[in-house]
Amino acid sequence: MEDLLSRTRLQEILSRSSDRKIGVIGDLALDAYWYADMTRSFLSRETPRFPRPIVREVFSPGAGANVAHNLAALGVGQVVVFSVVGEDWRRDILTDVLTSLGIEAGHLIASSQRSTVTYVKPILQGYDSWQEDSRLDFESDQPLAPALEDALIDMIRQRLPELDALLIADQLEINGIITDRVRGALNDLAAHYADRWFVVDSRQRIGLFRNMILKPNWREALRAVYPDRSDRALPHDELARIGQTLADRAGRPVFVTLSEEGLMICAEGTHRHLPAAPVQPPLDPVGAGDAFAAALAVSLTAGATPWEAGTVANLAAAVVVEKLNQTGTASPDEILTRYDLARQERQHHA
Ligand SMILES: Nc1ncnc2c1ncn2[C@@H]1O[C@H](COP(=O)(O)OP(=O)(O)OP(=O)(O)O)[C@@H](O)[C@H]1O
Ligand SMILES: [Mg+2]
Repeated sequence: MEDLLSRTRLQEILSRSSDRKIGVIGDLALDAYWYADMTRSFLSRETPRFPRPIVREVFSPGAGANVAHNLAALGVGQVVVFSVVGEDWRRDILTDVLTSLGIEAGHLIASSQRSTVTYVKPILQGYDSWQEDSRLDFESDQPLAPALEDALIDMIRQRLPELDALLIADQLEINGIITDRVRGALNDLAAHYADRWFVVDSRQRIGLFRNMILKPNWREALRAVYPDRSDRALPHDELARIGQTLADRAGRPVFVTLSEEGLMICAEGTHRHLPAAPVQPPLDPVGAGDAFAAALAVSLTAGATPWEAGTVANLAAAVVVEKLNQTGTASPDEILTRYDLARQERQHHA
């Protein structure tokens, strides 16, 4: 690790985020935790069922909104989100959540045809145990209408010149924000603004993005190149070939994340495997990918090489993996502490 990134260099990279402006475009979500105190529940008079008395609700940003949260936690001076939401109560809460985190939410297009994506997680609390009940999902039931695609594309065209980087969060399998047309427009913009950093995370379609940095996990990368192959763990040389194929198609570096095995970077005509930063169980991997993508973009805008940026992103993701029962973010201080820990661990084993 130290051969790729000295501590001084890490500090330098992290210190540059405050004067950056970074956008996130794509699927934003609101995560809602509804806590029902079942010890207060009495059998309802009308139905033979026990109601769920909600005693507490907690909201947090999900999907692209969590990527934005990670950018803010990294100290990025201005974080802006671009998306289309519904005209509903969830839009208001999402806007409040984002604003309270210092994220600019003034460019959200609201439409009565859309539903603000929300995942409600009911948590039933008993005397001394708790259980999660089935999630309640709010998603749009139709593809993004052409007029809304136009509005979103116009907005991002106008705003792009003022951004240092744009992260694309293509999270939903269907009826999401990054439609074929929106993706086409982003591919063109990325070619036109070749001096800006575009970083894309896509669950289903990572192989269709062009002129931008790709951040697939190994399953997403495999599916993009070999749609019919089964998901069996792959040796590193094969992952490198797959990553290189995607890098050739995209015309930009590719960062294939490998969970506890770290990262395969395909860039500058070569590839390199970077092991994950050491972590202490218990672990909660939720949000690792978002922290990784945010730290990657921040490092690149600070002038980091792909290898340096991958090292910073591994450290940021490791910080989040150790945070239990929360999606989690990583601050510059936490990343520096993680760097010191990783260095101590290596010296200990040397
Ligand atoms: N168990 C772990 N130990 C150390 N680092 C980890 C672990 N799991 C994940 N990471 C870090 O997080 C990064 C991203 O993880 P992963 O490959 O699981 O991404 P992902 O599948 O996109 O995650 P997500 O489920 O958040 O979308 C890895 O490259 C690594 O740096
Ligand atoms: Mg992911």
